[in-house]
Amino acid sequence: MEQNFKRTLVTAALPYANGGVHIGHLAGVYVPADIYVRYLRLRKRDVLFICGSDEHGVPVTIRARKENCTPQQVVDRYHKLIKESFEGFGISFDAYGRTTSETHRQTASDFFRTLYDKGEFVEKESEQYYDEEAHTFLADRYITGECPHCHSEGAYGDQCEKCGTALSPTELINPKSAVSGAKPVLRKTRHWYLPLDKHQQWLEPWITEQHKEWRSNVMGQCKSWFDMGLQPRAVSRDLDWGIPVPVEGADGKVLYVWFDAPIGYISNTKELLPNDWEKWWKDKDTRLIHFIGKDNIVFHCIVFPAMLKAEGSYILPDNVPANEFLNLEDNKISTSRNWAVWLDEYLLDFPGKQDVLRYVLTANAPETKDNNFTWRDFQARNNNELVAVYGNFVNRALQLTKKYYGGRVPEQGELTDYDLQTIEEFKGVKAEVERLIEGFRFRDAQKEAMNLARIGNKYLADSEPWKVVKTDPKRVETVLNLSLQLVANLATAFEPFLPFSSARLREMLQLPEVQWERLGSTDLLPAGHQLGEPALLFEKIEDETVQAQLDKLEATKKANEAANYKAEPIAETIPFDVFEKMDLRVGTVLSCEKVKKSKKLLKFEIADGLENRVIVSGIAQHYEPEQLVGKQVCFVANLAPRTINGIESQGMILSAVNFDESLSVMTVDRPVVPGSRVG
Ligand code: MF3
Ligand code: ZN
Repeated sequence: MEQNFKRTLVTAALPYANGGVHIGHLAGVYVPADIYVRYLRLRKRDVLFICGSDEHGVPVTIRARKENCTPQQVVDRYHKLIKESFEGFGISFDAYGRTTSETHRQTASDFFRTLYDKGEFVEKESEQYYDEEAHTFLADRYITGECPHCHSEGAYGDQCEKCGTALSPTELINPKSAVSGAKPVLRKTRHWYLPLDKHQQWLEPWITEQHKEWRSNVMGQCKSWFDMGLQPRAVSRDLDWGIPVPVEGADGKVLYVWFDAPIGYISNTKELLPNDWEKWWKDKDTRLIHFIGKDNIVFHCIVFPAMLKAEGSYILPDNVPANEFLNLEDNKISTSRNWAVWLDEYLLDFPGKQDVLRYVLTANAPETKDNNFTWRDFQARNNNELVAVYGNFVNRALQLTKKYYGGRVPEQGELTDYDLQTIEEFKGVKAEVERLIEGFRFRDAQKEAMNLARIGNKYLADSEPWKVVKTDPKRVETVLNLSLQLVANLATAFEPFLPFSSARLREMLQLPEVQWERLGSTDLLPAGHQLGEPALLFEKIEDETVQAQLDKLEATKKANEAANYKAEPIAETIPFDVFEKMDLRVGTVLSCEKVKKSKKLLKFEIADGLENRVIVSGIAQHYEPEQLVGKQVCFVANLAPRTINGIESQGMILSAVNFDESLSVMTVDRPVVPGSRVG
């Protein structure tokens, strides 16, 4: 199918420039897209890989408001961060633009205008929430209130995050503006709509009949939209951040971010190839592929194609290989809750290990269902697969060659049946990897590449050149020649997946050029060829390293719990004289020790300004005894004594109970004499 096209235009979803990019982005979109593009380039196909930052939309304005800066400052910062993160991971875009560029403003504006002039929009008046204090219409996300379904507070105008129901703002009970806190009022406003209902006639057969090969998750979502019946979609918004609607009398209105963002693919192509971009977008011989995450399916399979068709001169996507989601340690990745592995942080924490993450994310890619990233799995795949299989094989082959032949590729002598059988096992790798990559099955494709290393390891182990070297040196030459051919095959096969490691390995092999077309053959390295210096391709990841990452996530979890903590309701009111009966004092801890045979108890001796006293307290899991000696603590002095573990406790030491049940002993702000009253 692919061969019928002259060129392939690959796009990867434009990430929102309202935050950094994380492993979910990488696994869902950018690594698979990059593998695909690198592969096509190796096949010497004409290919263009386009991406950029999505810089409009309400989330940007929300972040700007939160951080007390302008939306432009927000997107400038994140555009740079995102671009550098992608570069760090070797995502090989041909163009990485931004939707605040002048080229983009012009392109999106013209696109809208063309559709407007052709009568492709319908104009409708509707009532929308308006904030009279802030003098602004409110985007759905800017309105909060009680969910009409689960009745929890803090549901958004587009969705209740507690029960997951999609909402429209007018369904909220007691709506409130998130901008000013005011109660919003309904006001009339006019917008332009793309009549998707009219487009359903051609969209439905185009997808369900002509593109039966699309992934089932993609097809499933499209069908369910069709079954519900497509509705007209507003393509403008009342907002002051975005591209102005290029029509008379549209003051204060901008293009809806989902209208302008996909046009970013076009404008970023234009910016790269000002004179040559059209053939990539308008020639029937171009094949267009959108890599996206599953939350983008409707926009790329339905809305954007409808826009392109309405414009009239563009091609439509040939495939939209959307991935499902990647979870992190069993929880949904979330930018707002900071539950993520951020790419810029990974690059700092794991310098030179970009390929490890690329490998793990592909091995565990959410191609057909949501998947889970765990640091333990990351470590295991690194140690047991990259180090123990791939790295180990390469290292053994190169070290033995260095030792026996000074790093020169030996002759390939007569092949035994076992050699031929081994060759048989890997010569099909090229066709297999190609078939899988072209079917967007990157996970299985990478497995095939890894299989070469397994074959190599087994071949070396079975052939035992280190033993045979004394008795049959000719045999060793052949074994090492074939092993080195396998190593060269590995460098080639992994080129689309692990570009950094392949480059290093090619350096070690002194193999400057990758010849994909020769993958699977046994003459990639000529006899007599001088290899470079062998070095370890991968290194083991230690438990401490993984633990440090887990600790970081644990800290995030704690910080989120603390931020969401709601204090317990206040207890029943008591009269003043009841309170007065309680005698609270400050005392100095003279000694503190663990109570034998108890995990929880500490025994205190407290100076109380009188005869001193013993208090037993259940805080041993929160303090080491020596941390408390000398501290001034607050205690209840007139509590009836109680015997605990055989010790009479004369009172109770007061502590604050934190949100996570951790304890903090109440001390005084300035030193006071022991026995001072608290009141
Ligand atoms: N910014 C969107 C997201 O992160 C994706 C936009 S894709 C484009 O979900 F097609 F609109 F560019
Ligand atoms: Zn709800």
